Amino acid sequence: MSWRTKSKLDWLRTLPGLAEEEPLDSRNSFGIGGPAEFFLELGKAEAIEKTIAGAKTREIPYLLLGAGTNLLIADRGVEGLVIRVVNRDFHVAGTRVRAAAGLKMMRLARIAADANLRGFEFAIGVPGTVGGAVYQNAGSWGKELSEVLVEADGFSPGSGKKTWTPIELKLGYRTSALREGALKGSLVVSATIQLDRGDGEEAKRLMAKLTRERNETQPIKTKNCGSVFKNPPGDSAGRLVQAAGLKGLREGKALVSQQHGNFIINEGGATADDVRRLIERIQAEVGRRFNMQLETEVELVGRWK
Ligand code: EPU
Repeated sequence: MSWRTKSKLDWLRTLPGLAEEEPLDSRNSFGIGGPAEFFLELGKAEAIEKTIAGAKTREIPYLLLGAGTNLLIADRGVEGLVIRVVNRDFHVAGTRVRAAAGLKMMRLARIAADANLRGFEFAIGVPGTVGGAVYQNAGSWGKELSEVLVEADGFSPGSGKKTWTPIELKLGYRTSALREGALKGSLVVSATIQLDRGDGEEAKRLMAKLTRERNETQPIKTKNCGSVFKNPPGDSAGRLVQAAGLKGLREGKALVSQQHGNFIINEGGATADDVRRLIERIQAEVGRRFNMQLETEVELVGRWK
């Protein structure tokens, strides 16, 4: 039975700023996917908490969206309520920085350098938001958020405000208890990181070097979702895709990058189904050739067939 009863739809329509059938393709870096059935942008923690608690009690499905840099949204869109988290404030206190979930990791990397803090330069290679980074323990150049995270504030619907330690968050390689554990459905409002005092100019030079490197090795100017697959232990998904001869493979307007095998590019007009078929072909071929199961890093959301 559908969850769409009159009273639930009436409640949704009382939410200030609610949009219906709102396009999401412009709100994710792949540029792919159908609309959100219901859509809201929220910045204030209290408003987010109230809305999610309301959706949860009414059993209305909801999805939290950050910058949408690691998502493949189905062509038929997302049912229920999509909430885009847009709080972006931050506070530097000594060597600690508290950042709101909607702040971009790249911006936070520059904020840290401006405050003469070191140890967060790796975040210049992380496209998404702080909230998204906690959700999947984002990282780059062999470093990840878990190495600097002190705690994250947020809430779990039904049990209110929480402060989670990294242990409670169960941060693993591109995962956490928020993504696939006991905290599923919980929301991160802000995160606190602990850095080292140092020379901000040096941090900026290192970030410029890392950015140049990334420009050379990744198709960063294209529409993509970052790494498609997780690296299998001790190996690299990009290397495996290349070794299987799959660079340049295509489905419709979705293309395996020639520059980096772990990237799929939307050449313009690719559908989510194109990308999914391409993912499955790569998994099958790498499995057949190297007996290696590639797991997706990108998260598939929405109404799949
Ligand atoms: N390689 C190939 N062919 C390719 C791509 C890579 O042979 O087409 C080889 C490289 O030569 C290198 C190895 O594979 O020896 C690893 O490649 P790379 O240094 O590009 O790093 P990666 O493991 O593919 C990881 C992250 C990226 C992050 C880079 C930079 C994962 C899944 N990916 O990529 O993260 O930017 O390191 O540090 O952990 C993302 O998470 O979205 C992302 C882009």
